[in-house]
Amino acid sequence: MDIAHFKQMRIFCGSHNVELAQEVADLLGVSLGRLHRSKFSSGEVYARSNESVRGTDCFVFQSHSPPINDAIMEQLIIIDALRRASAHSITAVMPYFGYCRQDKKVLPREPITARLVGDLFMTAGADRLVSVDLHTGQLQGFITKPFDHLTAIPIISEYLATVISDDVTIVSPDAGGGKRAEKYARQLNADVALVYKRRDVRLHNISEALAVTGVVEDRNAVIVDDIIDTGGTVTNAAKLIRTMGAKSVRIAATHGVLSMGAMQRITEAGIDEVVVTNTLPVPEGASRAGNLKVLSIASIVAKSVQAIFTDDSVSKIFLGENF
Ligand code: R5P
Repeated sequence: MDIAHFKQMRIFCGSHNVELAQEVADLLGVSLGRLHRSKFSSGEVYARSNESVRGTDCFVFQSHSPPINDAIMEQLIIIDALRRASAHSITAVMPYFGYCRQDKKVLPREPITARLVGDLFMTAGADRLVSVDLHTGQLQGFITKPFDHLTAIPIISEYLATVISDDVTIVSPDAGGGKRAEKYARQLNADVALVYKRRDVRLHNISEALAVTGVVEDRNAVIVDDIIDTGGTVTNAAKLIRTMGAKSVRIAATHGVLSMGAMQRITEAGIDEVVVTNTLPVPEGASRAGNLKVLSIASIVAKSVQAIFTDDSVSKIFLGENF
């Protein structure tokens, strides 16, 4: 018996960044899937699709924002519900991959939690993961299914080009970010400098900026990172660059975790502008900061979702720069 197979797309989202999922759905001209999400009095999460998903290609959005464990668990439960409801395929879209920085052991007896998160998504039934500017590319190898890696660097660079054009130096706040800084520099036709950062692996969230390689004097410096969490890394780099005579100091990162006190730290460091994207919702207090610019990644996510759905190339969207 032969039957024609019509592909049907469904976009569902968890409760942590409905705005982004809605923006993507609007760009694709589809409605968000009707999902019943609730919590039992014990705190357990419940999710059920209010419509049949049998045979459909489902995209399940969730930003892994605080409370991060709730965010991950909710996304896993939605995926489990869709798998048991006979979805044809399930793509987990996590613009920010929670626990991405716990990707290796730096001390004996440590967990590798990023791998555990990948395993959980495989167990729940995801056929594919999608994320933006992974902390490190090898996270893609932590799962056994396809992992599409998107980048917000073109969106951030395009914005930066509208506010600074001359004498630009892109600064990586640590050695690990050197390749990222080069990508920004290529887009902005800028020079590159590197900060030597030291971290005590026994302490969470504490680091020092010790030296800079490259020219920052009389330059418009842009410190680029993947994540701004406490703001310690970028503000330490900013203070050092200021003492070395930079004309202006901006910071730009894909993921604005902006945990407790980050915006205050950034304000006190006299940074001209902070640029992040909406891979994560901006925390309440931080959104009031006058020098914070939030760019939307909806356009690149929508194009990527469309490419995945139609079996088209994702790397073509990023001209091969998403590696
Ligand atoms: C570290 O390797 C990351 O790329 C970021 O530099 C770091 O996670 C930022 O954290 P914080 O803002 O707390 O210094």
